[in-house]
Amino acid sequence: MTFMPKNSQAGLDRILTLELVRVTERAAVAAARLRGRGDEKAADQAAVDAMRSELNRLPIAGTVVIGEGERDEAPMLYIGEEVGVGEGPAVDIALDPLEGTTICAKNLPNALAVIAIAERGSLLYAPDVYMEKIAIGPGYPPGTVDLDAPAAENIENLAKAKGVPVSEITACILDRPRHARLIEDVRATGAAIRLIGDGDVAGVIHTTDPDETGIDIYMGIGGAPEGVLAAAALRCIGGQMQGRLQLNTEEKIARAEKMGITDPKKIYSLEEMARGDVLFAATGVTDGNLLSGVKFGRESIQTHTIVMRSSSRTVREIKAKHQDLDKF
Ligand code: FBP
Repeated sequence: MTFMPKNSQAGLDRILTLELVRVTERAAVAAARLRGRGDEKAADQAAVDAMRSELNRLPIAGTVVIGEGERDEAPMLYIGEEVGVGEGPAVDIALDPLEGTTICAKNLPNALAVIAIAERGSLLYAPDVYMEKIAIGPGYPPGTVDLDAPAAENIENLAKAKGVPVSEITACILDRPRHARLIEDVRATGAAIRLIGDGDVAGVIHTTDPDETGIDIYMGIGGAPEGVLAAAALRCIGGQMQGRLQLNTEEKIARAEKMGITDPKKIYSLEEMARGDVLFAATGVTDGNLLSGVKFGRESIQTHTIVMRSSSRTVREIKAKHQDLDKF
């Protein structure tokens, strides 16, 4: 008999929170088996297969809204694919079975298996283009940072709000030529920069715990799907984030229009990217600042997951020891 949770008054059923953990755990273990093999595609495919089969056991009527790509380019977990057993709450799903394919292939820090679930119509249906992002963690006055403000102003306002000199602020930025000017501007303030090779979902989440991660602010241009996933996480933990899609060609504008986006220059707030009740889970594939990677032992596999819910703001960390190895 399938257990069928009812929608709780506060949105999604709380039991789904723990169900989600299995989904990211399974994807993380599959990807972790291929850590450090130099094969991004194989690791990604393994994570996709594992996430999809676990997702299809969930008691939901889910639709992938942020996934592996458009239907014609991604055979599995494509945008619009229906997942779950088909009965239960109607939900939108944003997922990235392996966030940081190159990180995993090179066995570098902070590769994750990530998923967010929200009530139908609550996530921004973002096309697979770039998004300019700015994010800080919780505890700062609203409007501390602004995507349209110069980098120096954002850094200075954040330092003031944190009550520290600018030299004690660290910004996380993707190491890309497109960020040369941003890097120069941030360095000119006296702030430090953590340049990351990939993985800006982790980069944004790291702003929520600067004491642990050493990162105060995320700035720069990364993937739009990753932006929506990161926004879902911040909705649960708290924090501020803004994003603007980089719709710089007619073709991208047309693709975005098909997804209901009529203002190509709009700045999206956190709530506009992820509204209502949101559940978010991420399991570490490789070791990182907040999550450990999968550990393979002789008789068990260990995983480390963070799972959270926006309506209660509960953030759980689950360290699991899996001993039924046939399941993996
Ligand atoms: P993948 O997992 O698809 O490899 O994405 C990794 C990533 O670094 C994201 O975290 C980031 O948003 C995006 O790629 C940046 O894109 P690009 O590598 O084109 O600059």
